[in-house]
Amino acid sequence: LDLTTAFRRFAAESREASPLYAELATIVARTPALAAPLEAAPSAFRTPSLMFAAMQYVLRTAHHPLAAYLPTLGGFTGADDALETRFRQVMTENADAIASVCAHRPLQTNEVSRCAALRPAFGIAAGLDQRPLALLEMGAGAGLLLYPDWYAYRYLAPRGRLGTWRCGNPDTPPRLRIDAELEGGAVPEGLSREPVIARRIGIDLAPLDVADEKDVDWLRACVWPEHVLRLARLEAAVAQARQNPVTLIAGDMVAMLPRALAMIDDACVPCVFASDALEYLSADQRVRLTEALHRAGATRDLVVIAHETVTAGAALFTDEAGRYAQAGDPQAGVLVMVRFSRGEATVRLLARTRGYGRLIDWDPVPAGYSPKSRLPSDLPRRTIR
Ligand SMILES: C[S@@+](CC[C@H](N)C(=O)[O-])C[C@H]1O[C@@H](n2cnc3c(N)ncnc32)[C@H](O)[C@@H]1O
Repeated sequence: LDLTTAFRRFAAESREASPLYAELATIVARTPALAAPLEAAPSAFRTPSLMFAAMQYVLRTAHHPLAAYLPTLGGFTGADDALETRFRQVMTENADAIASVCAHRPLQTNEVSRCAALRPAFGIAAGLDQRPLALLEMGAGAGLLLYPDWYAYRYLAPRGRLGTWRCGNPDTPPRLRIDAELEGGAVPEGLSREPVIARRIGIDLAPLDVADEKDVDWLRACVWPEHVLRLARLEAAVAQARQNPVTLIAGDMVAMLPRALAMIDDACVPCVFASDALEYLSADQRVRLTEALHRAGATRDLVVIAHETVTAGAALFTDEAGRYAQAGDPQAGVLVMVRFSRGEATVRLLARTRGYGRLIDWDPVPAGYSPKSRLPSDLPRRTIR
């Protein structure tokens, strides 16, 4: 895909979620030279969102009048005749700075509202064993999803119906109370069981340090300009995380998984999870990840939870995932849990989700375990049903 087409497509797709980015993308599609800084990014990461995030990052310190159009930077000016000139100015005057950000920072969101989808699964996992959980997140960013027990949750019945289910920490600051809607009407299991979490470990290719203002600025810059509530939630989560830092391992999740698992002793049950991270892996990496989890599960009890698009997550563990997702939308999230106990794997497809995990169609069904694998004879498959 050439960059002009990418920006044109982005303009059409983002009009609802970010009218400002849609407008700026239209300008770039008309004047492709404005996208030059994006050429500095590795080719797989060259997306309009990355360039706009880099622009926001630079604007945080550049004090340019364009900031007045971005609510996430405190602005409240709507698009007007001056927008294009100001945007062109920022892009040309700061081309090197924006290119340098594109070259060195992958696009990273760390959206705690995804915990609304994960929280029921953590509650179920906590009920499977007497021992506390050791959370191990693959693709953890700054690790903000490693605190699901610190947030408060309100699950609302679908529009037009009455019912609210609450769980979580009632003392959490207001901005960390996450509302989710139960689209299908069914109430998730596991809400009444508060998970006891004894360890929190994250792996990320580019982990972000909540104590480093530049890293946090990058997370802020990746929030689209109109999404001020997401920004407020991010600020609140970062403030909490600063009080209780987690262990973050830098590196590829597939390569680092054995080392991270070795950090968890038998006093805890490892609960390996991923949310919106496996889609960044190649098909080959996904296969290797499935194999690594399979090998780990053959030697110790553990739980794996994936909240990903169906192809990036659930389909790695069961052939029944595609059918499950197609009842809704294949692009939507699917929440899946694989339990390895005494060398046997059991799979449950739990829910379909949308909207950063806040729209949940809870629909638990058991599924056969059929891990994606290139090396079936290498794996101790017979012990696992
Ligand atoms: C969209 S963010 C999601 C972060 C977090 N899981 C969440 O849901 O808020 C994806 C994260 O995965 C990380 N990532 C991508 N490929 C990776 C890999 N091969 N190994 C480890 N982390 C990876 C990125 O650096 C990024 O922080």
